[in-house]
Amino acid sequence: MFRRSKSVVGLDLGSSVVKAVEIALEGPEPVITGFGRAEIPPGGSVQETVAQLFKENRFRGKRVCAGVSGQSTVVRYIPMLRMSDAELAQAIQFEVDKYLPFDVEEVVMDCQALDRRAGVASSEDGEDAEEDRMTVLLAACRRELIEERVATVQAVGLTPVAVDLDLFALANAWELCGIPDEEIEGGEGQRASALVDVGASRTAINVLRGGQSCFSREINIGGADMTQAVARRLGVEGFEAEAIKRASEAHEAEVNSAISPVLEDLASELSLSIDYVENHDGLHVEELLLSGGGVLAPGASAYIEQATARPARTWNPLEGLRVDVDRVDVEELEAWAPSLVVAVGLAAKVRTL
Ligand SMILES: Nc1ncnc2c1ncn2[C@@H]1O[C@H](COP(=O)(O)OP(=O)(O)OP(=O)(O)O)[C@@H](O)[C@H]1O
Ligand SMILES: [Mg+2]
Repeated sequence: MFRRSKSVVGLDLGSSVVKAVEIALEGPEPVITGFGRAEIPPGGSVQETVAQLFKENRFRGKRVCAGVSGQSTVVRYIPMLRMSDAELAQAIQFEVDKYLPFDVEEVVMDCQALDRRAGVASSEDGEDAEEDRMTVLLAACRRELIEERVATVQAVGLTPVAVDLDLFALANAWELCGIPDEEIEGGEGQRASALVDVGASRTAINVLRGGQSCFSREINIGGADMTQAVARRLGVEGFEAEAIKRASEAHEAEVNSAISPVLEDLASELSLSIDYVENHDGLHVEELLLSGGGVLAPGASAYIEQATARPARTWNPLEGLRVDVDRVDVEELEAWAPSLVVAVGLAAKVRTL
């Protein structure tokens, strides 16, 4: 009954699909020891879907790290004078009001000093030398949403051990996979990659330089908008449009033309973000790393690549990770891999919990 290896289930409560990936540490090695995926039926309950997922799949332990995203969450990159972590904990109390669209009492928040040389852009007045500044990453989530997540996890008999932002989970999954050296070194540290996760209701973008987040944002465009576009174009119900979109070989031309305005809007928001980070931080975003169920739409990846003028590829967060084949349906796992990035990133917390 007592297991020496620790495990954590990363629980991604997406707006359309619940995904759970469990990672256990065997020595220092992360191993996938559980996986489940369940679509939330139209009008269905998230909690029932979660319960069904855990009933139908085997997991080693009960510890869960759940994700949060959307309008109840906030991420800010705040330029501040350089200071110690203890000083920051004090100073941030006086700063946060300015950066939160919520009442401070309403949220749970955390902050962290990023690369202490990264606050360059705000020192152009010359008053503060570059090395006197730093960028602080501030993350906040409304207490209400966290409590809702905790209740969902407990209701199915599991133990919530952490809550993290989906945006950060993206970066943690990327880090777990091992960042190729050449993507960190060179170019005087000005080279960056953008992780882009296209979900059903939104798209998350997190720009990494040297493995560290320097910009992130959510865009309210995703696969559900593509489905709606197909429904309107073909004059069919949503569930039918969803099936047509996924079986695109049969209706490729219609699906392509129906979803192209959605892809156009999405790509233009992504381009705005890329332009912002390149101008503001003097970086060059060299590549887009795509994930999420939304990128499975026909032509999505190619469209994004062409419209943002950046090489784009879909990545697999499981690459290089060992899988416990006695517990996990490997074929199913591999088939859905690109949509499991957030769940993998949440489970990656096992290394620190
Ligand atoms: N084969 C496919 N072709 C096109 N789209 C697909 C395919 N399979 C899944 N999708 C789309 O992927 C989306 C679900 O992806 P994902 O699981 O990443 O979203 P989610 O996490 O539930 O949403 P969000 O992150 O916005 O809350 C849906 O919009 C679905 O229509
Ligand atoms: Mg998602």
